[in-house]
Amino acid sequence: ERMPDLSRNIVLIGPMGSGKSTVGAALARRMGRPHVDTDHFFVARHGSIAEYFVQRGESAFRAEEERVVAELLDAPRPSVISLGGGSVLSSRTREALAEQLVVMLDLTEQQAAQRLGDGSSRPVLGDDPVTAWRRIYAEREALYRECADVVVEPAEGTIDERVDTIVRAL
Ligand code: S3P
Repeated sequence: ERMPDLSRNIVLIGPMGSGKSTVGAALARRMGRPHVDTDHFFVARHGSIAEYFVQRGESAFRAEEERVVAELLDAPRPSVISLGGGSVLSSRTREALAEQLVVMLDLTEQQAAQRLGDGSSRPVLGDDPVTAWRRIYAEREALYRECADVVVEPAEGTIDERVDTIVRAL
């Protein structure tokens, strides 16, 4: 049987709304690891992402996001790390992910529509969140799959059930 390399970080990637932050926090608790969320870290350091986009633009955000991700992947002990949905756009980040145990959380467009609300905290979604989400998903799906060691198919169910699925898949 294939054994997971538990000396590595477990890194959650995937589209907006896939549950990287909530499922990541629960997975970390289950595994007794620290949870690190790159969006939360970004906000703690720079303030709101929406505001950052307005003030400095997306390319400045991506450059800073790449720095934050590199810093956090270098965690002092094996952690569960939830990445912002656009992190995989960076080739430097994709290279760094090759060293990690990477889990893609997938979701359907219907689930995204339920979970994203009005999209206001996510500037890339603009004022038609579901249409934007669909376009962004199509642009990034191949990158997520290329980086992932494990793909968790879209699932309903509680957060604990989703954690069970991930633990079994590791
Ligand atoms: C983004 C996703 C967001 C956040 C930012 C941009 C994206 O993170 O990093 O709003 O481009 O997909 P979540 O995936 O946690 O929503």
